[in-house]
Amino acid sequence: MSGVTIVSSNPSLEARLSPAIGRGLTHRRVWSDRWRSPVAAAEEICAADPDVVVIGSDVLETDVRELLPEIDRRYPNTGVLVLAATETREQIVEYLRLGARDVLAESTDVPALRTSIERVIDVVNQRRQSAVGGGGLRRRVIVVLSPKGGSGKTTMAVNLAVGLARRAPQQVLLLDLDSQFGDCAAALGLPDAEHDLSHATAAVASDRNALKVFLSTHESGLAVLTPPDDLAAAEDIDPDALKRTVGALTEEFPLTVVDTAAGIDEPALIAAEFASDLLFVSTTDVPSIRAVTRQLDALDRIGLTAPRRHFLLNRANAKVGLTASDVENTVGMEATFQIPSSRAFPISTNEGIPLVEKASGGPSRQLAEVIEAFAPPDESGRAGWRRRRK
Ligand SMILES: Nc1ncnc2c1ncn2[C@@H]1O[C@H](COP(=O)(O)OP(=O)(O)OP(=O)(O)O)[C@@H](O)[C@H]1O
Ligand SMILES: [Mg+2]
Repeated sequence: MSGVTIVSSNPSLEARLSPAIGRGLTHRRVWSDRWRSPVAAAEEICAADPDVVVIGSDVLETDVRELLPEIDRRYPNTGVLVLAATETREQIVEYLRLGARDVLAESTDVPALRTSIERVIDVVNQRRQSAVGGGGLRRRVIVVLSPKGGSGKTTMAVNLAVGLARRAPQQVLLLDLDSQFGDCAAALGLPDAEHDLSHATAAVASDRNALKVFLSTHESGLAVLTPPDDLAAAEDIDPDALKRTVGALTEEFPLTVVDTAAGIDEPALIAAEFASDLLFVSTTDVPSIRAVTRQLDALDRIGLTAPRRHFLLNRANAKVGLTASDVENTVGMEATFQIPSSRAFPISTNEGIPLVEKASGGPSRQLAEVIEAFAPPDESGRAGWRRRRK
């Protein structure tokens, strides 16, 4: 048991809640007038790994709306109880949908508060016990980024997603957020989709739980959401609706891989907010490496520091490029993965059959290492579904 964290500017709330929390649990209060982002706020709030977070009624409604999904997604062993100043039915439903476990009026008396806190702890404990493999199937959202076009984002996103789906069918989603020129469907050899991202974003406001109908399925068991064919429809996608869609879908699937357009456009930033992992892809030429460094700096500046960062050096053996250690020194990050240049990649892209689906050819060992790094633990709790090759 690690206790209760209260989010409020008001010290007297902690004193008021103390008898409701009971003796067996510790409590602390956190507050800041200027958290850099919801991610940073959630990190600080959940730093002590609380069983329950109580959000006080002085926290702005807009902040509560951003915090709830963040805590729900990143800290599955924490339950949130919201104390609301105005407690309309609509607001209660919204907060519950966003991930709160309970919503109470700020004036609620101690016995009712105690009952609610106990109920939230019960839910959290049930979640812990039903988590796969004891350690829990950690929800992962892997966003593939690169400042430059043509570096291999789509190739890596597609191979990673199919590789994961072969190990965990029906549990993996590939979200193609290159909304203008996304080509994941072609790389997977999928027929034209009946529905696309524009349909999902249009529907999310009325029913965020029914988005699965807009997904296509690859024979590996991978679910795919493709961008619209029509450039105008892509332009019309409302960022707020996109955010809700990404939030709802990443809750639905234990593993999501997101392909993005070159650079950091709005869809990529939205996806990055939900990310557990950012996978930077770069080739070994100087402009690309410089651009990755700038991209990392930009993400630091906007406070997107919570997701784990990985660096995939593509065409790592290119004779004209920098060496892997030159690159690592420039970027200040270890090249987590190195994929050599291989003709097998463009051939597979053109055929619409991801390289991981082929029995032989190309750098399959290196691709398997990427997949294993993100695969859920097997029943023994061991990371990866197969042992990493030495
Ligand atoms: N390691 C590699 N060796 C050889 N060819 C590769 C390699 N990785 C990717 N390619 C090829 O390079 C081309 C561009 O790759 P890809 O479409 O994955 O890049 P991208 O970063 O998604 O580009 P964009 O920014 O335009 O979306 C494709 O034809 C792909 O098959
Ligand atoms: Mg691409």
